[in-house]
Amino acid sequence: MKKLPVIIDCDPGHDDAIALIAALASEKLEVLGVTAAAGNQTVDKTEKNARKVLEICARTDIPVAKGRGKPLWNPLSVAPEIHGDSGMDGPVLPEPSMPVCREPAAALMARLVEESPEPVALIVTGPCTNTAVFLLSYPHLWKKIAKISVMGGGAFEGNRTALAEFNIWTDPEAARIVLESGIPVEIYGLDVTHKALIYREEFALFREREGMVFQFLADLLDFFGGTYLEARKFPGAPMHDSCAVIGLTNPELFTYVETDMSVETESPRSRGALTMDLRPAAGKKPSVCGKIALDVDREKFLQVLLGACETITRQRREKGYAS
Ligand code: BDR
Ligand code: CA
Repeated sequence: MKKLPVIIDCDPGHDDAIALIAALASEKLEVLGVTAAAGNQTVDKTEKNARKVLEICARTDIPVAKGRGKPLWNPLSVAPEIHGDSGMDGPVLPEPSMPVCREPAAALMARLVEESPEPVALIVTGPCTNTAVFLLSYPHLWKKIAKISVMGGGAFEGNRTALAEFNIWTDPEAARIVLESGIPVEIYGLDVTHKALIYREEFALFREREGMVFQFLADLLDFFGGTYLEARKFPGAPMHDSCAVIGLTNPELFTYVETDMSVETESPRSRGALTMDLRPAAGKKPSVCGKIALDVDREKFLQVLLGACETITRQRREKGYAS
């Protein structure tokens, strides 16, 4: 099977880590590189967390590059109340030993896209800062971007403010550049990611399985589920970021609506809100830039994540790593 080449622009981040695992395990995707954004924590921390995840997955061959230290315009405002001081609190992991790329994130993206014989999909699971810098700096490469899959926003709800979701709220200008680029986009916002929930009583499905990857997932879920219970009274852990990956590998699990989308950057009360037109005839407008997922088959989604851990566990064994 021909694999879709992807670059993952992320801010790990518990759910980013799970998204990376889902992407690395998929036989439909080839992960060319990982770029780290400032978001859940500072970029020094998210970049280090990305390398830790690649090391657990025995994929130290994949380059990791560090992006900008702050959003295009906003000051950086990190989220320790959800992801802890390290950005990925919970699992106890050694310091990563694989090197970080010398190129900055946007330059790595450009090189990987240029070198790829096939168009590349970008998966963005943090603020869109690096992706926007890449798009603005390398306009001649837009034609080689197949699509951009983004975890961000929400049609009907926000989490950082009443109207704005964290990733888009962190860097609204960057998200707007992505959405108005004309490159096809897929949006996985809070409407669907809050439905992609792993309930607390299901965490045992990971904990009871042998192997480092299952235990890592269980540790992530314990911490992330804990902060979501405390901060937001959630009955489990929302798998925000893996929606943007599994939407590419298993679109049949999602229900989508086509629409034009952008981001509000002017009004102080709604800055960072994802804007769209969900009226029935709106999908026919020439300004339609992509689709937004509004529903997901939660049980099948959970099975995909369990299968991903199984695959990485097997790959680790095949490479001679301890289970
Ligand atoms: C998004 O914000 C971060 O906390 C998560 O990693 C996810 O990307 C959810 O609003
Ligand atoms: Ca994220």
